Amino acid sequence: MSKTHNGVYFVLWIISLVECKIPEVRVNCIFSEDCILPCSFTPNRADVNIQWYQQEALILRLQNAGERLRNGTVWLFHDHISEGNASLLVKHVDIRSKGRYKCVVNNATQTYVIATVEAPIRVISIDTTPSGLIQCSTKDVYPPPMVQWSTEPSLTSAALQPITRMGPNGKGLFYVETVLKQQNNSLEYIYVCNITSKYGTQSWTASLQLKEITDSEGQDLVIPCTAPKNFKFSTLVWTLTEANKTTEILKYDSWTHKTTSFRDHTKLDEENVVKGDGSLTLKKPVGSDHSGIYTCAFSGIKTRHLIQTHVNITYSRHGKDSTAYNLWMLAIVLGLLALLAVTLLIKRCKAKSKRSQENAQADEEMQRINTDKPTEEPQAESKLMTQPLGSSS
Ligand SMILES: *[C@@H]1O[C@H](CO)[C@@H](O)[C@H](O)[C@H]1NC(C)=O
Ligand SMILES: *[C@@H]1O[C@H](CO)[C@@H](O)[C@H](O)[C@H]1NC(C)=O
Ligand SMILES: *[C@@H]1O[C@H](CO)[C@@H](O)[C@H](O)[C@H]1NC(C)=O
Ligand SMILES: *[C@@H]1O[C@H](CO)[C@@H](O)[C@H](O)[C@H]1NC(C)=O
Ligand SMILES: *[C@@H]1O[C@H](CO)[C@@H](O)[C@H](O)[C@H]1NC(C)=O
Repeated sequence: MSKTHNGVYFVLWIISLVECKIPEVRVNCIFSEDCILPCSFTPNRADVNIQWYQQEALILRLQNAGERLRNGTVWLFHDHISEGNASLLVKHVDIRSKGRYKCVVNNATQTYVIATVEAPIRVISIDTTPSGLIQCSTKDVYPPPMVQWSTEPSLTSAALQPITRMGPNGKGLFYVETVLKQQNNSLEYIYVCNITSKYGTQSWTASLQLKEITDSEGQDLVIPCTAPKNFKFSTLVWTLTEANKTTEILKYDSWTHKTTSFRDHTKLDEENVVKGDGSLTLKKPVGSDHSGIYTCAFSGIKTRHLIQTHVNITYSRHGKDSTAYNLWMLAIVLGLLALLAVTLLIKRCKAKSKRSQENAQADEEMQRINTDKPTEEPQAESKLMTQPLGSSS
C-alpha cells in the first residue's frame, strides 16, 4: 500500500466518523425514582435484536422476542419496540445506576447514554449547637453538594472560617454538616448558609439571627419575629428550648391560615402574621416556666429563616407576687402611723390634764387671796377652767 492510499483511507475514516457519529445523550436520574434512558432506531425488519450495556457489561438482551435480564432493575417498553423505541427503563435508581450506557440494535450501536444520579436536597436545617457554634446541615444528598456561608452585613470568608464535614451514610448518600464560630458581636449579624447541588440544579438557603431579651415577671412579653422582606413562607413554627429539650409551642400554616397552639398563655396575631410579623405574646410569664430559647422558624420553598431569642425573665417587684408584698408594706406603714397618732393623742391629753390641775390649784390660791374683795370675773373664769377638768378626768 502506498502512502497516498493510506492518506485516502484516513480521510475516509474521518468522514465516516463524522457521518455516522453516534449520538450521546445525558440523562439525570433521580435517586429512588424510575429513569428512562432513550434509544430509538428505524424499524425495518420483523426480528429485532436489542442489547443494552452499562460500562461495556451486557445488562439486557432481547433476541427473537425473548428477553434475558441480568438483573430485575431494567426493562424495555415491549409495546413500543415495533415503533423503533428501544428505550431502557431503570427502576428504582440507586448510586450504582450511574455511568455510560450503550444501546445496540441489530448489531449497530444506536446511542450512548451518560446517566448521572442525583439525590436532591430535601431539607435544610440551621441551629446553634450546645457549645455555641452555628450549624447548618442536610442529609441523604448525592453527589456531595457545595456549601457556602455568608453574613449580613457581610464579612470576609477568612473571618468566618467554616468547618464542613460530609460523609456517606448506609445507602451511599451523603450527610453534610457545616459549622461556624459565632462572631464576638454575634447579635449584629444574620448568618446565611447556602447549599447548592453539585450539578447546580438546586440551591437551598437557611439563615439564622440571634437575639436576647431580659424582662421582668408579671407583664405580657412580646418576642419579636419578622420574616425577611419578600420572603414567601408556607409555615411558621415557634419552639422553646429549655435544658437541651425542645418543644413546639405554636404552628401557623399560611395556606389554611390556621394556628395550632400547644401551650397555654401564648398568642400570635393572625392579622400580622399574614404580613410577615410572627411575633409571639407570652401572657404574664413566670421566670422558671418561661425562660429559655424561643425560636421562630419561617419555612418556604428551599428556604428557612430562624430567629432565636434567649429570653430571660427575672423576678421583679412589679410582679404579681409583689402586689401582695406592697399591700403588706402599706398595712405596716398605716399601722405605724396609727400607733404614732394614738401615742401623740395620749401625750397631748396627759399634758392638758396636768396643766388644768395646775391651773385649778392656782385658782384656789387666787380665790383665797381675793376673798377680801370678791369679783365676778375670776370666779367665772375659774368655773370655765374647772369645767373641762371634770369632763376630761
Ligand atoms: C419510548 O416509550 C416510552 C414509554 O412510553 C416513552 O416514555 C419514551 O419517551 C419513548 N422513547 C422514544 C425515544 O420514543
Ligand atoms: C449480529 O452479529 C452476530 C455475530 O456477531 C450474528 O450472528 C448475527 O446474525 C448478527 N445479527 C444481525 C441482525 O445482523
Ligand atoms: C473576640 O474576642 C476574643 C477575646 O475577647 C479575641 O481574642 C478575638 O480576637 C475576638 N475576635 C474578633 C473576630 O474580634
Ligand atoms: C447560593 O450559592 C449559589 C452557588 O454559588 C448561588 O448561585 C446562589 O445565588 C446562592 N444563593 C443565595 C441565596 O445566596
Ligand atoms: C446541654 O448539653 C450540653 C452538651 O451536650 C451539656 O454540656 C449541658 O450540660 C446540657 N445542659 C443541660 C441543662 O442539660
